[in-house]
Amino acid sequence: MTAWSPASWRDKPAKQLPAYPDEIALKKAESTLAQMPPLVFAGEARNLKAHLADVCAGKAFLLQGGDCAESFAEFGAPKIRDSFRVLLQMAIVMTFSGAIPVVKVGRMAGQFAKPRSEDSETRDGVTLPSYRGDIINGFEFTPAARIPDPQRMIQAYNQSAATLNLLRAFASGGYADLHRVNNWSLDFIKDSPLYDRYNHIAQQISQALDFMAACGVTGETVPIIRETDFYTSHEALLLPYEEALTRIDSTTGDPYACSAHMLWIGARTNQTEGAQVEYVRGIKNPLGLKCPPNLDTDTLLRLIDTLNPENEPGRLTLIARMGHDQVESKLPPLVRAVQREGRNVVWSCDPMHGNTIKSATGYKTRKFDHVLGEVRGFFNVHRAEGTHAGGIHLELTGQNVTECTGGAQHITDENLSDRYRTHCDPRLNATQGLEMAFLLADELRDMRNTRKQAAVAAE
Ligand code: PEP
Ligand code: CO
Repeated sequence: MTAWSPASWRDKPAKQLPAYPDEIALKKAESTLAQMPPLVFAGEARNLKAHLADVCAGKAFLLQGGDCAESFAEFGAPKIRDSFRVLLQMAIVMTFSGAIPVVKVGRMAGQFAKPRSEDSETRDGVTLPSYRGDIINGFEFTPAARIPDPQRMIQAYNQSAATLNLLRAFASGGYADLHRVNNWSLDFIKDSPLYDRYNHIAQQISQALDFMAACGVTGETVPIIRETDFYTSHEALLLPYEEALTRIDSTTGDPYACSAHMLWIGARTNQTEGAQVEYVRGIKNPLGLKCPPNLDTDTLLRLIDTLNPENEPGRLTLIARMGHDQVESKLPPLVRAVQREGRNVVWSCDPMHGNTIKSATGYKTRKFDHVLGEVRGFFNVHRAEGTHAGGIHLELTGQNVTECTGGAQHITDENLSDRYRTHCDPRLNATQGLEMAFLLADELRDMRNTRKQAAVAAE
């Protein structure tokens, strides 16, 4: 393998990168970013890797979620808070009912660049370059908006910094204190039957906290009661941005992507010899790799060799996104190959990207039943193979959007137009997120019982 540097991706074939018309403006934006402080520290990325090593060992569960694409227009404290609290609420349901620690990672504070299946888009006979995310060009269908503008990388960096600042405050400034478990419900959930189920858990947690306080265990003595760990992630797509934010860690001398704690390789840019894989192989952050249904076992093993040559637990999370109707046929061969070769990976399930359809009313949507179906299929496969169903990767928001049909609010095709806000793929709303958390808690409990029974039978 050739020598790696933060710029070595430039010698590789690159998919999905914009053609910036103004080279000088691009270089200027890159050097501005190279001067900026890192958004995250290498030590934090190492902590996340250690938590993911616990997931790899079957001792924890990864919850990764957030927008399909963050946007400049929909930016503000309420939106960040709502996404943070739905993730927190889901994590508490899983930790309490599933009895497993949950590692929380947002698709936030940097999830701006989007891969597209078409380079251009035609409307009413007019053809323009596709929208590729606010970090690259504008959503508006005008020639000016669709020109890739490197200055947008600076705005994305600034928005990521502000988002991360608030997330850090929420995680450690008292908002995530377990005593506030009753306050994490979003108002619109209060009309749903899930609310009672959640409240029941919240009451039990409050009682447990009272009991622990009586025993001398409080937020003052045990910080985990009043604060939480929250990490950030996005797709490793826009390499000029990632290269400019790569830093050498002064403690270890190793290179880290300092745009987020974790980066993942998308399904359209997973070529072993491609530019995105080249970039991420050299950084020491934990990595994700999307596994679509057309990924064969040999290619997967080659990618694992490239991305995790030391076979380090926690380094690599395989994110299966097969579709509800394919997960039980396409995932087992991959899981078996990884087991046979003794590769340490986290298996996570993205039940969103293999289940995108067009509604009768013309909206890009997902049926919540299909999403749940893929999750059940994912757990079935791991139960059958004796491996750990280690995580979930969701597109969701804390806002009360109507983008995916079904769920406790019974969103129909006709309702989609009510509050369809996404700039890219349809997201679960907070009610659907909570419903998902209850399903995951049930599956996790079941997985633990199956393991216990197997251990007893083996004695
Ligand atoms: C995404 O996660 O938004 C995405 C584009 O997924 P995939 O690469 O799996 O299609
Ligand atoms: Co998406």
